[in-house]
Amino acid sequence: MTVIAVDGTFASGKGTLGKALAAHYGIAYLDTGKLYRATAKRVLDAGGNVALEADGETAALNLSPDDLYDPILKSGPIGAAASKVSVHQKVRAALLAFQREFAAKGGVLDGRDIGTVICPDADVKLYVTATQIERAKRRHAELAGYGEKLTVDQVLEQLIERDTRDSTRAVAPLKPAADAHMLDTTDMSIEAVLSAAIEICDAVLKQHD
Ligand code: DC
Repeated sequence: MTVIAVDGTFASGKGTLGKALAAHYGIAYLDTGKLYRATAKRVLDAGGNVALEADGETAALNLSPDDLYDPILKSGPIGAAASKVSVHQKVRAALLAFQREFAAKGGVLDGRDIGTVICPDADVKLYVTATQIERAKRRHAELAGYGEKLTVDQVLEQLIERDTRDSTRAVAPLKPAADAHMLDTTDMSIEAVLSAAIEICDAVLKQHD
């Protein structure tokens, strides 16, 4: 059973990499950000407040698999709300079992705390990032595809806010695990990132054999 943890910053390319790695190794893939996004959407739909831990916990405990397929989860406002709801300890606790059960069957999980909290014993841990301006440009292009009209500077401002919140929260903050392999994707194509990651995974998995 192979578990690959792909953590990293917002818009670093970790989702694209996680999916591609799962396809390469023929294992399952879980985008754990979707759990927080779906939780945030549930809070908002119920007229609640993502800043309130109790609202977040109720939403997380009532999450259903169907909640994860809504295309609106990809939107900027839901992502920002997800970052806010994810600071609560009870929200994270409510989503823990689902992630651990998924990991118990083997797969690639991408998120912020996979290598540090969810799967500290993952076979391979990758930490993906890129400069803030490069990530802002990538996210800007992605948002334009969904019809969201923001300038690169506005996206950059939101991204800095998100990086700060995700990495300074008290519970399970975004940070590389001590044994994570770092991948700075700033000047790399998607293909180059994938082959660098496969090289790391193959080398680590070979040692485990
Ligand atoms: O990866 P993403 O942009 O879809 O994540 C949205 C937010 O959810 C992110 O800003 C912080 C939170 N998150 C988290 O706290 N832990 C995870 N494992 C994944 C996401």
